[in-house]
Amino acid sequence: MPLDLKPPPNDLRSFWLPFTANRQFKKAPRLLVAADGMYYRSHDGRDILDGTAGLWCCNAGHNSPRIVKAVQEQVATLDFAPSFQMGHPQSFTLANRLVDMAPDDIEHAFFTNSGSESVETALKIAIAYHRARGEGQRTRLIGRERGYHGVNFGGISVGGMVNNRRVYGPMLNGVDHMRDTHLPEQNSFSRGCPAYGADRADDLERLVALHGHETIAAVIIEPVAGSTGVLVPPVGYLERIRELCTKYGLLLIFDEVITGFGRLGSSFAAAHFAIAPDLITCAKGLTNGIIPMGAVLTTDDVHDAFMTGPEHLIELFHGYTYSGNPVACAAALATLQTYGEDRLFENAASLAPYWEESIHALRTCRNVIDIRNIGLMGAIELAPRPGAPTQRAYDVFVKAYEAGAMIRVTGDTIALSPPLIAEKEHIDQLFNILGDALNDTD
Ligand SMILES: Cc1ncc(COP(=O)(O)O)c(C=O)c1O
Repeated sequence: MPLDLKPPPNDLRSFWLPFTANRQFKKAPRLLVAADGMYYRSHDGRDILDGTAGLWCCNAGHNSPRIVKAVQEQVATLDFAPSFQMGHPQSFTLANRLVDMAPDDIEHAFFTNSGSESVETALKIAIAYHRARGEGQRTRLIGRERGYHGVNFGGISVGGMVNNRRVYGPMLNGVDHMRDTHLPEQNSFSRGCPAYGADRADDLERLVALHGHETIAAVIIEPVAGSTGVLVPPVGYLERIRELCTKYGLLLIFDEVITGFGRLGSSFAAAHFAIAPDLITCAKGLTNGIIPMGAVLTTDDVHDAFMTGPEHLIELFHGYTYSGNPVACAAALATLQTYGEDRLFENAASLAPYWEESIHALRTCRNVIDIRNIGLMGAIELAPRPGAPTQRAYDVFVKAYEAGAMIRVTGDTIALSPPLIAEKEHIDQLFNILGDALNDTD
């Protein structure tokens, strides 16, 4: 079918866009109509360099032929099969592949359709796990300020991005938060893990003292906080969190919806930092963004706690109609194959030093107050305009888009995460455009 590049749809009224200033957007829409590799094509016929892997998900680049073909073939073979008391081969194959690539202790995969659903699933498994082991009083959940764990009620309860929470009422009971690890006075312009802040993990010790360890089920954190603007964990922080969770019998959930599948140059951040969480939530890069899919990965210890009682009884009363959807599984299998055969995690790891040099070269651009990076993730924080927070970063975003690069903004921070197929020339192009957009913005 020929591409209908223009005009844009004549009526933008009905679609209520998520996480978007709808009225502003509809006055000057930015529409993408095609994609290939590192580039989108805009509705006005321009190539737009993808600086954000779509929304942190297209790690293998766009329209990767192997993935496209796998989806086409699967959809024509087995469109849907339930996973409730039924199955199909690909979901089992995929679960095996996932646990093979995950850290050693991970042995099982539960399928969902998004990061938000993975988070809800992991929180429920954590609470039910303790109950299955006779510790049903462990129901509290500990999250972290500035954390992002999707948009469902469990996720916003343990999350700590204020705008995502403030209008939605009291949320889950029994949730508490550690402080975040953002310490700009000590750590600004750090490269990789910042030196200061491991002691923020001791907030967990305080919360344990406050609530009693025997009431707490789990701690959920992003190993690198992504959506709040790429907060890289201070040296020693994750180790200390793991140590305290083990000491007090709390399950540690790593939310790897962004960091999973090569963003740091390894399969998961857990492998990168050599920390063993009890559960990992993932989504996004699992299918390269082509078909919605997420997963919760767990250890034998967590899984086996449920495998007791009469065998004819359902062990976990939880699941989604589309858990393990065959087309999503086909997309995921082809995606994992692509990551492996094209050595994309290795590419991310080998490009990371160049990425670091390039992003930190923007330090002298206008209004830049901090730059953070790890793997192929980075953030550039701007001083907010007095009385108009977020507007400066938004203006940079629009200027960059007009000049041919898609970046992402969160508050007054620009977040970057290119597809892992990137080459040095793409990084140069991205930072040239971004540098100009920064210097052109008052
Ligand atoms: C760490 C983390 N958890 C959960 C989510 C939610 O994922 P989804 O938008 O697929 O529901 C995201 C999305 O960015 C995320 O970054």
